Amino acid sequence: MISRIKNRWAQKVASLSSESLLARFLLESFPEHRKRYFLAIIAMVIVAGMTAATAWMMGEIVDSMTNPENRSRIMLVSGAVAAIFIVRGFASYAQMVLMARAGNRIVAQKQESMYRQLLEQDIAFFSGTESSDVLVRVTQSAQMARGVIDTIVTGFVRDLLTLVGLIGVMFWQQPVLSVVSLVVGPLALWGIRKILSRVRAVMMLEMAGLAEIFRVVQETSTGARIIKAFALERLMTDRMDEAVHAVEKRANKMVRLESATTPLMDSIAGLAIASIVFLSTVNLFGQSAGTPGQLMSFVTAFLMAYEPAKRLARMRITIEAGMVGVRMMYDLLDRPATMVESPTARDLPDGPGKLVLEHVGFSYANGQRVLDGLSLELPQGGTTALVGPSGSGKSTILNLLLRLYDPDDGRILLDGIDLREVRFASLRRKISYVGQDTFLFSTTIRENLRLVQPDASDDAIYEAARVANADEFIRALPQGYDTPVGENGVFLSGGQRQRLAIARAVMRHPQVLLLDEATSALDSLSETLVRDALNQVTQGVTTVVVAHRLSTVLRADMICYLEQGQVVESGRFDELLARGGKFAELYERQFAKS
Ligand SMILES: Nc1ncnc2c1ncn2[C@@H]1O[C@H](COP(=O)(O)OP(=O)(O)OP(=O)(O)O)[C@@H](O)[C@H]1O
Ligand SMILES: [Mg+2]
Repeated sequence: MISRIKNRWAQKVASLSSESLLARFLLESFPEHRKRYFLAIIAMVIVAGMTAATAWMMGEIVDSMTNPENRSRIMLVSGAVAAIFIVRGFASYAQMVLMARAGNRIVAQKQESMYRQLLEQDIAFFSGTESSDVLVRVTQSAQMARGVIDTIVTGFVRDLLTLVGLIGVMFWQQPVLSVVSLVVGPLALWGIRKILSRVRAVMMLEMAGLAEIFRVVQETSTGARIIKAFALERLMTDRMDEAVHAVEKRANKMVRLESATTPLMDSIAGLAIASIVFLSTVNLFGQSAGTPGQLMSFVTAFLMAYEPAKRLARMRITIEAGMVGVRMMYDLLDRPATMVESPTARDLPDGPGKLVLEHVGFSYANGQRVLDGLSLELPQGGTTALVGPSGSGKSTILNLLLRLYDPDDGRILLDGIDLREVRFASLRRKISYVGQDTFLFSTTIRENLRLVQPDASDDAIYEAARVANADEFIRALPQGYDTPVGENGVFLSGGQRQRLAIARAVMRHPQVLLLDEATSALDSLSETLVRDALNQVTQGVTTVVVAHRLSTVLRADMICYLEQGQVVESGRFDELLARGGKFAELYERQFAKS
């Protein structure tokens, strides 16, 4: 069902036109920041006006310099030139700061909501999405989207007004030449646009290359141990080199395409100036060419018009390149939250923690049936051990009990309430989980324990550690409870990590405890410490444990032997052993030796 929803969603986002996505992005961003954008736009109007005035003043400068006797005019022109540049400078400054502030705010907001949306995703999303993909999305896409807003605002306000102002100056000074250049100019721009449209295609590939670089670096950092142990350095270096070279090649291609416009434009500018110098000496269509100042002003306006005209001509391309980011951003933001609380969800009552599975069927996204019509009633306040061959669905049952996934058929009841009808917060308060990989946050031991119960006192933390047989080793550490554990607990041993994970689970005083026993062997002392810890912790708590240790099956109140998602045998240890069935066989093979 979930995968069907996702497919529909993927089609929806892919089919959305750039226009509607862009409109939505602008509507979400502008209104909130309208004050800043309004002030920035005023600054842009001033910048555009001052730029046109600069071109116009060029004429005045030339004319007053060729007329040195007119002192008062020279004074006036000098003063005006200074004033124009100063005003323009300050207006530019204001515009840049205001635009950047609004843009940075938008990026921050979008990154915040993307991260929140990320946390709303079910485990299937994280299993199916590479972490480097998520990384690029959250860090880069909002930045690219912000570039779209900058392009639109500066394009439609500053560049457009500047261009109108400069063309106005051109017509004022040289109407005939202006008509000629309005024919030549757009032709040149059309050529430039043709070149730049190829930039866009390169840009898309650039993002893909970037993701590969992220991926390699990330895998290097998380898999460092394996890379060294298996001497995979060469392989990783080759992958990195390839990714880096691909990005380098694309960056070069992009520069080459973009720079190709420079010789083109320089040639046009040179020819324009040369022909104007030439034309100034002849009469054009029976008119004199005007004063040198008028010509100078015209040439200046013409040349100054190039930059804004170029930006406007390629605006669509720039926006479309940035739309890659907008699309990626909404891709994540619009992803339906697949694990949603039912509107009628309620809090779990303070029950005994009774778990019942009724005809549960489940398959992961690939559609392969993992559990099929599974019915189980777990002894409340007691321990159920799940055993069975690898891949038989033991961890999957824990996933369903934790409600990381919902069953496709049937239901799971906790104290008589379907898990789908329970508020997440209330479920998580009641259930604790210790997994095979004991993930720890990169902070101190104290903080790792407090994370799950923020209002816990220090004494409660010490008590949980004591129950989990961790207190002693923690106090022996140089900084005691304030010792940092390193990324994912690398400063601790495997047994210490497991006992910390148990202590973390105890912090909640759970009524239901789910354990996926680590398969990796611990030395016998750690093993004993962990076992004693579990014995303490599971007292009177409904416990479901994926068992790999003899000690665990021995003390279980019920053992379920699973095969291909079905309970084949269940009962107490001695019953099952006496029966001489599958469990007895497994016992001979696996547990009897340990
Ligand atoms: N995220 C997933 N996506 C798709 N299939 C999965 C996923 N996780 C597990 N499976 C499949 O579901 C089946 C049951 O897996 P599960 O992890 O429950 O086995 P297990 O009994 O815990 O095995 P083990 O003893 O090796 O831990 C396997 O065939 C596995 O390939
Ligand atoms: Mg497992």
